[in-house]
Amino acid sequence: MIYITGGSSGIGLAMGRVFAAQGAHLLLLARDEQKLKDAGRTVEKSRRSHTQKVGTMSLDVADPAAVKKKMKIALDIYGAPDILINSAGINKYADHFENITYDMFDEVMKINLYGPRNMIHTLLPVMKTGKGHVVILSSAAGLFGMFGYTAYGTSKAALLGLSDSLRYELKPLGMKLTVICPPEVDTPMNIDEAKTLPQEGRAVKSLGGFLTPEFAAKVIIKAIAREQYLYIPGASTRFLYLLHRLSNGWLTRMTSDAVIRRARKKMGK
Ligand SMILES: NC(=O)c1ccc[n+]([C@@H]2O[C@H](COP(=O)([O-])OP(=O)(O)OC[C@H]3O[C@@H](n4cnc5c(N)ncnc54)[C@H](OP(=O)(O)O)[C@@H]3O)[C@@H](O)[C@H]2O)c1
Repeated sequence: MIYITGGSSGIGLAMGRVFAAQGAHLLLLARDEQKLKDAGRTVEKSRRSHTQKVGTMSLDVADPAAVKKKMKIALDIYGAPDILINSAGINKYADHFENITYDMFDEVMKINLYGPRNMIHTLLPVMKTGKGHVVILSSAAGLFGMFGYTAYGTSKAALLGLSDSLRYELKPLGMKLTVICPPEVDTPMNIDEAKTLPQEGRAVKSLGGFLTPEFAAKVIIKAIAREQYLYIPGASTRFLYLLHRLSNGWLTRMTSDAVIRRARKKMGK
């Protein structure tokens, strides 16, 4: 049984389809019921057999009481997940820091960071028995600083901190944890982001490459199968991260500063 938060769209939905084609039972979780119903039908079409369950359940992962209540229902109907994929996330407020209010910052943290926290904390007791696998969608923006990403990037970097510590607790229990740091993936998330992302941020982001959700889903599922801890989809982002680490961040800062300078010149700033 695989639970996928954010299973109604983008990477989560694409992963649902790949898992369904591999024969998995699935529960897709997100807020919007209509989007979930549509996603459920799409995933059902990818099933290998009609005996596979594809459930949907509306849930706001940022609400800890709702997570507790709905997961109790989910466990009764579907049983404990062997794999919990935390893909639910938002990037609504990619903007200059001074334009991001306390409430906007808080909303990003509540969904992107507290969401996985709420899900994992609620399901950990039942996942222990089956030596389950926790998967967390962080981002390349959690590995590198990015112009315009003070809210989103902070939430994604915090997920890496959560993963690093949690991994040590899960390993002795026989549980697995995989944290994923994709570069830009062609999903509805980027439509939201484009409304406010400063041009400097757009220019820097293009260094990391661009993946389709189908490609991202396939390579992420392979990384889960080989129980990899940290996985970065996309060869160019993996290479950039290697340079970043070898230079202690110096090369990334130099390159990003140069790209930002050029973008600002083009903007007449
Ligand atoms: N796309 C990229 O470029 C990219 C790159 C790196 C990492 N990521 C990460 O990958 C994950 C998936 O992103 P995506 O691109 O697939 O985004 P997406 O297409 O916008 O999908 C986001 C999903 O999360 C759900 N969601 C949002 N807030 C929620 C909440 N409070 N409770 C429950 N579900 C919620 C959405 O459904 P509802 O709105 O109906 O709830 C939707 O199903 C995110 O964590 C994102 O940060 C994305």
